[in-house]
Amino acid sequence: MRGYKKPTVSIIGASGYSGAELTKILLRHPSVKLENLYAHTQAGKKVSDIYPEIDTDMVYAPYEGDVNTDIFFLALPHGEAHTIVPELAGSGKLVIDLSGDFRLKNTQEHLQYYGKEKDPKAVLTYALPELFHEEIRQAKAVSNPGCYATAITLGIAPLVLAPLKDAGVKQVNCTAVSGISGAGRTAKVELSYSEMNNNVRAYKAGLHQHTPEILQALGTDSINPAFGFMFTPMIAPLVRGIYTVLNIQLEKHLPVSQIRAHFSDFYRSAPFLRIRETMTEVRHVTYTNFCDVHVAESAKNGSTVIVTAIDNLVKGAAGQAVQNMNIMLGYDETHGLLL
Ligand SMILES: NC(=O)c1ccc[n+]([C@@H]2O[C@H](COP(=O)([O-])OP(=O)(O)OC[C@H]3O[C@@H](n4cnc5c(N)ncnc54)[C@H](OP(=O)(O)O)[C@@H]3O)[C@@H](O)[C@H]2O)c1
Repeated sequence: MRGYKKPTVSIIGASGYSGAELTKILLRHPSVKLENLYAHTQAGKKVSDIYPEIDTDMVYAPYEGDVNTDIFFLALPHGEAHTIVPELAGSGKLVIDLSGDFRLKNTQEHLQYYGKEKDPKAVLTYALPELFHEEIRQAKAVSNPGCYATAITLGIAPLVLAPLKDAGVKQVNCTAVSGISGAGRTAKVELSYSEMNNNVRAYKAGLHQHTPEILQALGTDSINPAFGFMFTPMIAPLVRGIYTVLNIQLEKHLPVSQIRAHFSDFYRSAPFLRIRETMTEVRHVTYTNFCDVHVAESAKNGSTVIVTAIDNLVKGAAGQAVQNMNIMLGYDETHGLLL
């Protein structure tokens, strides 16, 4: 447990959607004490003023430094964490950052997809537990994956990182639907009820910032990728959920049963990964930290369809962040996360 009795945790960016989900999980986590909730424009308000469903009398405070907390979660917009994380990590705190600031190793890709220069040293352990458990266990500061990146990478990884004989991946085309909470709590006209009710909209086709993140997690990059990759995200009138349809072209045909068995074997030690015999659905994973995966079809030409589903605010953000904290502290990774 890294020498802590009962570690204290604080959230910077606690008043947003990911911060609220973290608050709920950490309040009921049996082995940590939730110490401080930091906010920006909402500082001074009670948690219950914004989220009456959260049973606490805690009040949001402005973040002006904090030497007493052991573990920090940062749930800030991209670009706001890059000075705070090094300060906290440098003073010996454990840090889990939910933004994209520390995910990409390639500064050229970061500039291309986030529109910001970054220090080449601003990279943390990429904390996707199903793939990088040992690296996370040893890390003091980690970068929590993006929500689309989590659902998509987990659906491709067994075929790319442990390819079946003569059946390497040639091309991946993925479409993915996100619920509206994926864009955060700040109001945006194009995401308002009158724009999104009874509507679905694709956006950033081939240009979404999770594209290089997915490829990096799979051991390649977007500038010179080892296989073709196209990602088209879509927004739909759900509050929560990520639903991905991955069309993966393999070098040869493999029966669905063999691919399913391979996925089950690859994820045999992953408690939050469920290989489903039947079609995955968003409602099967909402409010949980599970990622459901279904191998749907495999055509004679090697084209294979995998469907995955997660809750963007739990496995795609706060739940996965707590899963990472558990691993960093040496707890069982499911600790405090199973309902
Ligand atoms: N939403 C998701 O599904 C999801 C999934 C994975 C990762 N993430 C990532 O998690 C992070 C938080 O996302 P979110 O959706 O929870 O966002 P959000 O709902 O918009 O919340 C943002 C939080 O950051 C605070 N904040 C905003 N501007 C700030 C500034 N200039 N300085 C300091 N604090 C500031 C806000 O405080 P006030 O409200 O007090 O102003 C709020 O607490 C983002 O990096 C996002 O990409 C989100």
